[in-house]
Amino acid sequence: MKYEEALKKVSGYGQEHILRYFDELSGEEKESLLRQIAQTDFSVLSKASEREKNQKRGVITPIVAMKLSEIEEGKSAYTAKGIGMLRAGKVGAVLLAGGMGTRLGSDNPKGMYNIGLTKEVYIFERLIRNLLDVVEQTGNFIHLFIMTSEKNHEKTTAFLKEKNYFGYAPEYVSFFMQDMAPASDYNGKVYMEQKGLISASPNGNGGWFSSMKRAGILDTVHKAGIEWLNIFAVDNVLQRIADPCFVGAVAEKDCAVGAKVIRKAEPGEKVGSICLEDGRPSIVEYYELTKEMAEEKDAAGEPAYNYGVILNYLFRVKDLEEIVGQEMPLHIVEKKIPYLNEAGETVKPEQPNGYKYESLVLDMIHMLDSCLVYEVVREKEFAPIKNLTGTDSVESARELLKLNGIEL
Ligand code: UTP
Repeated sequence: MKYEEALKKVSGYGQEHILRYFDELSGEEKESLLRQIAQTDFSVLSKASEREKNQKRGVITPIVAMKLSEIEEGKSAYTAKGIGMLRAGKVGAVLLAGGMGTRLGSDNPKGMYNIGLTKEVYIFERLIRNLLDVVEQTGNFIHLFIMTSEKNHEKTTAFLKEKNYFGYAPEYVSFFMQDMAPASDYNGKVYMEQKGLISASPNGNGGWFSSMKRAGILDTVHKAGIEWLNIFAVDNVLQRIADPCFVGAVAEKDCAVGAKVIRKAEPGEKVGSICLEDGRPSIVEYYELTKEMAEEKDAAGEPAYNYGVILNYLFRVKDLEEIVGQEMPLHIVEKKIPYLNEAGETVKPEQPNGYKYESLVLDMIHMLDSCLVYEVVREKEFAPIKNLTGTDSVESARELLKLNGIEL
């Protein structure tokens, strides 16, 4: 993008200050800033004033889940169906690894974190091992698509190559990058992190399918005959991916999407609860659950909003293609954003000073007509690593891995 074009673009959004220091930049910095301007979607900024409106929810009611006992009854039939689909190459896996992992506090991508104690055991390695279990079971490699962001793409690709993809066949691994979103002050004015650098971060995990499409990866999906995509988070080291029984059950029930869920440890646990919103599948965040909802019981006398999502969903591709152009809700989150002060120095604020703009995959569930809510045993499939210590941490995940016989 040329300077004139860039100026026109930023002016269109009232963000001319982005180019304020342009003349002071080196040739390389100038190029990098122009590239950033070209790649950034500034339209989100106009939503800063609509934050409240975006948070309004419809009528929330409980959803029926396929519980462990029901899964057990249908297990052999679902598994056989799933294995057939996997052998026919109808299922792909998508690893969402574009996040910043700020809570873990490592400079490297989260997947590069070594959780081993007596040997090296990387997060990426654990996930790939889990997927390899299904490869061994079915005798077929499953195409693995990995979403990165501008902030971690180089490191992620170089690391996995260096580690020989932890035994995965490289021809079944593809990478694509998600988009970035600018960060702004409370009035929607973009922050600059440096004179030649817009304050920007990955635009949330909700854009995974549109980013996949833009990167041309959907052609690979079609050519390979993939009809279902199992997306999963980078941080749950215990989850089963492309799990044949889950795949078979979702297809058998003819649902547009399947969501793996766990029984919540307590009503206030910090996971989103699956529910119906205005009669369609949806997810209500833990902080949106009212006291009445937390205490409500279903027909069996169990808590009505008892199933937490673990970011492991199986989407039917043809249904995704129907919703891909639709606008997704924007989550406008208050954050501490490093910025350039009037003196041209970078300041790291102690308190939140503005907004980041993200779309989330959980909103895709509400855009689809049907969802199979599929219960998994939390001790066997849920060991998220968000923090270094405490709840959902490296420490708690290590304990769970050990319980499941994984050597660390
Ligand atoms: P989290 O919500 O835990 O965010 O992501 P995070 O960025 O990894 O971690 P924190 O909040 O900064 O500590 C859940 C999943 O979604 C992916 C993450 O990589 C993780 O697998 N994700 C998140 C993306 O792929 N892109 C994003 O923009 C955000």
